[in-house]
Amino acid sequence: MNPAQPLNDDSQKVRAMKTTALLALGLLLSGILSTASAAGDAAAGKEKSAMCQSCHGADGNSTDPNFPRLAGQHASYIERALMDYRSGTRKNPIMAGFAGGLTDDEITNLAAYFSSQTGVVTAVQPNQVQP
Ligand code: HEC
Repeated sequence: MNPAQPLNDDSQKVRAMKTTALLALGLLLSGILSTASAAGDAAAGKEKSAMCQSCHGADGNSTDPNFPRLAGQHASYIERALMDYRSGTRKNPIMAGFAGGLTDDEITNLAAYFSSQTGVVTAVQPNQVQP
């Protein structure tokens, strides 16, 4: 019997196991990624965004430095922020009020809408810079 034979069998098994593990990892990752990018309904988000516009601007490009711009922000960031305001993990009395009544779907849709808008970049005004 060739002494190298069992070794070969083993290394083939190891290779097969590695392939299986990689496939499993790939499936797992694609699952995670597709969950993360589960696209909300931007049109529904736009309708819901009427109540956000007075502060964050019609398309999420706020012109008031007190209110953050949402246009072009990552959807997952907007979603996370709204969920954190809703749960109280992120504390802001104004946003707690607005996020408090939103459902998960409404949050996903709002995030889809604002993230699909083009963010305007403007120069920082000298009076906005803290010394
Ligand atoms: C009355 C003004 C007002 C309204 C209306 C309002 N917001 Fe806000 N929003 C704020 C303020 C102020 C902040 C900053 C709070 C902080 O410092 O955490 C904020 C922060 C946010 C943030 C976090 C931004 C970041 O860069 O971290 C998101 C997301 C957000 N608002 C979404 C919304 C949505 C969606 C609506 C409508 C459902 C809405 N807001 C309505 C005032 C408002």
